[in-house]
Amino acid sequence: MKVLVVGSGGREHSIVWKLVQSRVVDKVYCIPGNAGISEIAECVEVESKDFSAFLDFVKYEWIDLTVVGPEEPLARGIVDVFEKEGRKIIGPSKAAAQIESSKVFAKDFMKKYKIPTAEYKVFTSYTHAEDYIRLKGTPIVVKADGLAAGKGVFVCQSYEQAVEALKLIMKEKVFGPAGDRVVIEECLHGKEVSYLVFTDGKTIVPMVTSKDHKRLLDNDEGPNTGGMGTFSPNPIITPELEKEIMDTIIKPTIRGLKQEGIVYKGILYAGIMIVNNKPYVLEFNCRFGDPETQVILPRLETDLVDIFMAIAEQRLNKIEVKWKKDASLCVILASEGYPGKYKKGLPVTGLEMVKGLKDILVFHAGTKFNDEGQIVTNGGRVLGVTALGKDIKEARKRAYSAIEFIKFEGMQYRKDIGLNI
Ligand code: AMP
Ligand code: GLY
Repeated sequence: MKVLVVGSGGREHSIVWKLVQSRVVDKVYCIPGNAGISEIAECVEVESKDFSAFLDFVKYEWIDLTVVGPEEPLARGIVDVFEKEGRKIIGPSKAAAQIESSKVFAKDFMKKYKIPTAEYKVFTSYTHAEDYIRLKGTPIVVKADGLAAGKGVFVCQSYEQAVEALKLIMKEKVFGPAGDRVVIEECLHGKEVSYLVFTDGKTIVPMVTSKDHKRLLDNDEGPNTGGMGTFSPNPIITPELEKEIMDTIIKPTIRGLKQEGIVYKGILYAGIMIVNNKPYVLEFNCRFGDPETQVILPRLETDLVDIFMAIAEQRLNKIEVKWKKDASLCVILASEGYPGKYKKGLPVTGLEMVKGLKDILVFHAGTKFNDEGQIVTNGGRVLGVTALGKDIKEARKRAYSAIEFIKFEGMQYRKDIGLNI
């Protein structure tokens, strides 16, 4: 069969990498892909605001299954467009994707269905929002309602910081209409975990646990990023805690959405803070995590296409999903200046040296080939180096040894991924 993956990051590279190994897949396409993906799949540039060109491509190439990586096309309804035409696609509908695309929707939904989350209020008026911040005091968290490419959340330690964030969102409109409403919420202190599941709207199959390191610098300092490194499993999540996450968060979410008339199919990702051994939802994502996927899929034994087809045909209860015992760890190599402004087009060297290494996988994110056929940087997060090992310590050692070979000007990465767990 033929499969199409939509997206261009490390998450998509790891999805493509896994799909290529499927016993039933003949060919994988990616729109638009990156340099690493183009080594194992056919990358195609397709521009289309209403997804009609995507659909034409799928029909023309006789593609059997489409998998959507990022939230943006899901929030704009790519799944609805494909399903209307009877095409198999993995991801939630536009209505279901609101769990990520509107923080107001997600918070109000959690309140209604008693899913544990930080206390909050929603504002459409700048003045009322500012009054509320003064009333509540700091630390406090200010969030733009809509999608903001991971930049719309401000964890503020002072009143001045909170007002600054509010101004950026509501007055300067740096995120456009995503800032028409804000959520102001209580700041939670604890340990963050990523919890992802596959679901067909009826059956829920948990993935292995993981942890992302969101801050740019070692010891969780510096600004928030899309994620600087991950590992799996996450030992913080004991079997008891996992049961509690399933019972108080994941199951009530899928059930509650159904009560709202929304069948959630695809991947559900809960970003969770563990406070005094109790889980609270920080956010929901309607897709695989990046870079969580780069540590989760290398541990998956089952053919990913079997899982995707079971989701599409709502028979997830009929298949067994198996995982490897090995631990995995991924370190992100980022451009100088990320998550702010950064240069592009800088040559990346050493990739050939790492290619044959046992238990090492390099997933490309912001890379492309230049006119001379050389791999150059093309984004903030450039590469993710994943290693497998008998435990996190071994995986960590292998990942950092492999990184020694890879170089590009201004390359920055955290040295403490998986260190203090
Ligand atoms: P979000 O995109 O909502 O996950 O927010 C991005 C990051 O901000 C999270 O991964 C947390 O590190 C942090 N964050 C979000 N909400 C809160 C909160 N209520 N308390 C503390 N930190 C938070
Ligand atoms: N790693 C965080 C995210 O995918 O949103």
